[in-house]
Amino acid sequence: MSNDKYILQAEGILKSYRMGAAELKVLKGVDFAIEKGEFVAIIGASGSGKSTLLHLLGALDKPDEGVVKFEGKEINWANGKELNRFRNKMVGFVFQFYHLLDELNVQENVYLPAMVSKSVLGWFSGSMVAKNRAKKLLCQLGLDERIGHKPYQLSGGERQRVAIARALMNEPKLLLADEPTGNLDSATGNGILEVFENLNRTGQTIVMVTHDEHIAARAGRIITLADGKVSSS
Ligand SMILES: Nc1ncnc2c1ncn2[C@@H]1O[C@H](COP(=O)(O)OP(=O)(O)OP(=O)(O)O)[C@@H](O)[C@H]1O
Ligand SMILES: [Mg+2]
Repeated sequence: MSNDKYILQAEGILKSYRMGAAELKVLKGVDFAIEKGEFVAIIGASGSGKSTLLHLLGALDKPDEGVVKFEGKEINWANGKELNRFRNKMVGFVFQFYHLLDELNVQENVYLPAMVSKSVLGWFSGSMVAKNRAKKLLCQLGLDERIGHKPYQLSGGERQRVAIARALMNEPKLLLADEPTGNLDSATGNGILEVFENLNRTGQTIVMVTHDEHIAARAGRIITLADGKVSSS
């Protein structure tokens, strides 16, 4: 029977990087579980493996050993179709450096994940719905006036909000964010945290990576990563 209390479980996660002959052990047995509806911050020093871990949780990379379970079910690294579905529909990923496409305007960047997840015919019939949802998300994030802008015409905080809207486009069950306030001044960063707090209030599960204790304190719970392991949770 699957345990439906947890949305995410990490068990015995090991991850190393091979650099020529040397092996850098980054994660040395990471275990934790995240409940549905939680807002969790993962904190740790630079180089402690936070981004590495977040990529594993979003199935963007594969652990050397250990399992990641989503809604009680092990992520199956061998099934490409299932992995793509998981990455596209179940999780929304906010990258530290936005990863927006400069050729597309703000609204197009946001509805891109919906386009990717549909067949040509499906997109033909559903594109209006997707475009409207993108617009609604952008309005909620205070970007009504920026819908036609290109990413390079935006400030850092505005780009980050576009990246958040894009991550939310397919209504993911889990939002993963890597240093979402890392490049922003404290007032702008605070605005992003308020967005997260509001989302969490409506039931969105969020896992956020940060190296800043003050930012982590805004989450409901802190998981500390040190020496390749979770030192408290
Ligand atoms: N692709 C890679 N190949 C080799 N080493 C890597 C690779 N990616 C990360 N590392 C190394 O693994 C360690 C953990 O990296 P990671 O990016 O997960 O750290 P982090 O906790 O996110 O740090 P930061 O707070 O600076 O973003 C670092 O020492 C880094 O140099
Ligand atoms: Mg990082």
